Amino acid sequence: MNKDTVLIIGASGQIGTDLTMNLRAIYGDAHVVASDIKSAAPEVMETGPFEQLDIMDEARLHEIVDKHKVTQIYLLAALLSATAEKNIELGWNLNMRSLSHVLDLARVGKIKKVYWPSSIAVFGPSTPSINTPQYTVMEPNTVYGISKQAGERWCEYYNQKFGIDVRSIRYPGLISWKAQPGGGTTDYAVHIFHEALKSGKYESFLSEKTTLPMMYMPDAIRATLELMEAPAEKIKIRSSYNVAGTSFSPEEIAAEVKKHIPHFEMTYKSDERQAIADSWPQSINDNLAREHWDWKHEYDLATMVEDMMQNLKKQYK
Ligand code: NAD
Ligand code: SER
Repeated sequence: MNKDTVLIIGASGQIGTDLTMNLRAIYGDAHVVASDIKSAAPEVMETGPFEQLDIMDEARLHEIVDKHKVTQIYLLAALLSATAEKNIELGWNLNMRSLSHVLDLARVGKIKKVYWPSSIAVFGPSTPSINTPQYTVMEPNTVYGISKQAGERWCEYYNQKFGIDVRSIRYPGLISWKAQPGGGTTDYAVHIFHEALKSGKYESFLSEKTTLPMMYMPDAIRATLELMEAPAEKIKIRSSYNVAGTSFSPEEIAAEVKKHIPHFEMTYKSDERQAIADSWPQSINDNLAREHWDWKHEYDLATMVEDMMQNLKKQYK
């Protein structure tokens, strides 16, 4: 049994709900402490320790780390792209201060490993949008993207200056069935399933041809765990790794959903999230993740939709 104790900050969210259960299966329930400003899903609350934590409260973070003898932190608390545009100050403060609180814990030797996710939002309108490479022009024009780019710089800085073992992935838009997404631009690709099953129709807030990089949650969780378990010498990028799953547009996912629900109808009415989506890449080149730590995605659009349908149909029965 691994002797590490893991703290997940933001465990009640879309990724945290799945990640907590996966980490508990690896480390043992008692060694994975879930925390969030709000309570988590019943399976998270009932299977192991949970601590209420506002990550802006640094003293409380230290108290939890000491109490549980935490050795690793997965920092997931953040405001996502669409929400951060509506609350610029909170988006910047939360996304930046949470990271500095955690990196400083590592700097004073209290924890030995940190995971912090970046996003395809680090790229901007001047980035080549097809097969976007790891190293390219990065001029994000959203609060969220700016915070992710700054976060990447800080991760690399703490690794180079202080030897902190910090690891990161630029997630694409994530699709999952356990928890609802938390206010991003890619949320339509989760909402579509719930609305298709509830009412047989959905109005997309992105236009039909808006192609974005996406990934199914089991692939995202596996990428995260494989990155964190890889020997340190394999992790040659300490800002954040490009990873890719599959890319699709609203009309392509609608056509796939229709194979399972033939009467499904999709309409389109773009809102302010369209401009954010238009500034992001359409597809991602993840060759370096593949070379360095053997990353390989499994799910494509069809297999992801099939699995989402199977799981959500049980929920809506
Ligand atoms: P989410 O919004 O679903 O979850 C975030 C969690 O953080 C929520 O449970 C929220 O209650 C919690 N939180 C907010 N403020 C807090 C505070 N002050 N103290 C403690 N907890 C607080 O987000 P997610 O989709 O699970 O994303 C997790 C991370 O992954 C974020 O950094 C996000 O930027 C990144 N990411 C997500 C996606 C995606 O598609 N879901 C894509 C790229 C990157
Ligand atoms: N899915 C996230 C968002 O739309 C991308 O980081 O905000």
